[in-house]
Amino acid sequence: MNDPRSIIIFDTTLRDGEQSPGASMNLREKLEVAQALIDLNVDVIEAGFPIASPGDFEAVREIASVMRGARICGLARCSELDIDRAWEAVKHAEQPRIHVFLATSAIHREFKLRMTREEIIDRAVQGVRRAAGYCDDIEFSPEDAARTEHDFLCEVVEAAIEAGATTINIPDTVGYAMPQQMADTISLLLNRVPNIDRAVLSVHCHNDLGLAVANSLAAVAAGAGQVECTINGIGERAGNCALEEIVMALRTRSDVYGCTTRVNTKRLVPTSRLVSAVTGLQVQRNKAIVGRNAFAHEAGIHQDGVLKERTTYEIMSPEDVGLPKNDLVLGKHSGRAALADRARQLGFRLSGEQLRQVFEEFKKLADKKKEIYDGDLTALIEQQLHGAEQSEWQLAGYRIETASDGTPSVELTLLHGDETRSEKMEGGDGPIDLAFNAVERLTGLDLKCRDYQVRSATFGRDAQGEATIEIEYDGKLYRGLGVSTDTVEASLKAILSAVNRIAAERRARSQADAAAGQ
Ligand code: KIV
Ligand code: ZN
Repeated sequence: MNDPRSIIIFDTTLRDGEQSPGASMNLREKLEVAQALIDLNVDVIEAGFPIASPGDFEAVREIASVMRGARICGLARCSELDIDRAWEAVKHAEQPRIHVFLATSAIHREFKLRMTREEIIDRAVQGVRRAAGYCDDIEFSPEDAARTEHDFLCEVVEAAIEAGATTINIPDTVGYAMPQQMADTISLLLNRVPNIDRAVLSVHCHNDLGLAVANSLAAVAAGAGQVECTINGIGERAGNCALEEIVMALRTRSDVYGCTTRVNTKRLVPTSRLVSAVTGLQVQRNKAIVGRNAFAHEAGIHQDGVLKERTTYEIMSPEDVGLPKNDLVLGKHSGRAALADRARQLGFRLSGEQLRQVFEEFKKLADKKKEIYDGDLTALIEQQLHGAEQSEWQLAGYRIETASDGTPSVELTLLHGDETRSEKMEGGDGPIDLAFNAVERLTGLDLKCRDYQVRSATFGRDAQGEATIEIEYDGKLYRGLGVSTDTVEASLKAILSAVNRIAAERRARSQADAAAGQ
């Protein structure tokens, strides 16, 4: 039997994933995610788009400088400025990669770029050549390849390889392709491009029709050697191919694909939780592999079957994807070491300060709730990871009165540095609306609530409420996360965590403006 082919896993959570509205991460968060991707053992980390902003550049440069064990890639359009900036950002990596892209489909050529086919080939070749002057690991993506005429696609790919591209990535930019079509495109390139043996063929599928994983698998079956994907499938619009799904599909059905990856699958759930915590993008309960219900058997007949023989209803084991075997219960008397140990088993790496803060919250919770489950601890850690260190505004206290036949009223007190600010209001559309208005008044920010949800972190009537909120400010989305056994308090914490992200960004922008003016 032949050895299984090892598929290169190219993670773009920090680039395409971060393009999900409201999913932007600060430098600390990007470094935490990058470290988790290293622990997961992905082959390539696309760390960002360095020309996009000074923050993006800084993050890619830092990740390239400190992370070891994976290739670090920076994205660039086919322009000198972009490519030079990408190189500046990745050059300190152990194994740097520059990823250049240029749209090739007729729609993009005509309406976006207003360029002829010849001009596209010329620009692609110039871009790849410039990048290849810097390093020997160059990826080229003909953007919207899945809607590009086949003859032209072959021509562009051949020219890009000739100019020095070592990976050719085929993006289904708008998630339009069907699995057979994706497989046909890969076969076509493998059969028709004369120098294709000098490059690795890759795919990058978007999920607009829910086919990103299926399309990527079809491409692998047809001979693609690299898959681009993101944790939890986050990304532009409906997102990208989900890393955890493609990796587990290849592993579980190695009989079909004959492929492996280097990914440490036991890190899938912890990495998913970390990404969900830092981005505020919650994973749906029934999400394959990493959803809360992915391994929960509800029907009696299934439970009975699994107890008799696990494989009757389970095709993968929960431990293989990093779900702890049992839900350990902590309580009032559990110490910091027990908490640290369980956090580690749940897959979280916490710094000393993060652990101190989570322990403080844990102690408060243990006074209110007898048994603290993994879900409770995860919720506290997620709250901490979602930027708790940026707390410019903190909740000092609140009093809310509401009745079915009365006007709600709220008195809210916030801490802003050493200053205490209070606001009393009545009316509004219920207590949360009123509290939101009070936060606006106190912070002086004009906020629009785009989404608001509360769910329980565990089970039982004393379960903690986990509130998430999406706030639009100045045309941009910010997410907030708050946890408490009191759902009003959880909601207030969520609003403030989004406000603190806004405040941190405003601070960073004014510091950058001040530095630029010097
Ligand atoms: O979806 C896309 O086409 C991309 C490219 C930059 C690879 O993200
Ligand atoms: Zn994309």
